[in-house]
Amino acid sequence: MQDLAHHILDIAENSVRAHASLVVIRLQERPSEDLLRLEIIDNGEGMSEEMRRQVLSPFTTSRTERRVGLGLALLAQAAREAGGDCRVESTPFHGTRIVADFRLSHIDLKPIGDLGETMLVLAVGHSDTDFALEIERGGGLRRFDTQEIRASLGDAPLCSPTGLRVLRGHLGEVLGTRPTHPYGLKESPNAC
Ligand SMILES: Nc1ncnc2c1ncn2[C@@H]1O[C@H](COP(=O)(O)OP(=O)(O)OP(=O)(O)O)[C@@H](O)[C@H]1O
Ligand SMILES: [Mg+2]
Repeated sequence: MQDLAHHILDIAENSVRAHASLVVIRLQERPSEDLLRLEIIDNGEGMSEEMRRQVLSPFTTSRTERRVGLGLALLAQAAREAGGDCRVESTPFHGTRIVADFRLSHIDLKPIGDLGETMLVLAVGHSDTDFALEIERGGGLRRFDTQEIRASLGDAPLCSPTGLRVLRGHLGEVLGTRPTHPYGLKESPNAC
């Protein structure tokens, strides 16, 4: 995977598969510690302690169609290659927290990539799950939250033309750039 936004999409999809109703994606830049911390926290079904201990191995998966599960293993590899590490905390029936640390100054730190695209695809693709993105940088916190956006939209779903316009607007405010080329949604006025 070429950038962190792709990893985030992949790891958040695990949370959706675990029936999470809320997934919080938090990015913290701490230059004084030379640290970029990525956390993905969900309230899904969690995993057993045995699973948790093995889950960073590529041979750990609950998928039945294949014997490898690469998402977490690749994130852990990306963190280690950038001088950091990855850990998994999980409580069955309560949820899971993935923490990946990267050294901000490391030459092998992957670029962040297009977080707007990732958030748009998650929000539009999963009507039963809410997603929050929190970015802590330079002493400030910026937050995108589909719960708030759904509430402001009333009956219009996130995938409607109005929903997409509002999602793009919020993401533009939080990220400073408007996502205009979400995977496959580029020309679509209605993604429902
Ligand atoms: N947030 C989560 N909640 C509950 N279980 C999880 C979560 N994330 C991962 N798991 C468990 O860990 C396994 C490994 O996850 P990983 O992302 O590494 O691979 P995968 O999802 O099985 O396959 P791939 O990511 O390659 O499509 C999953 O199959 C699932 O059983
Ligand atoms: Mg996965």
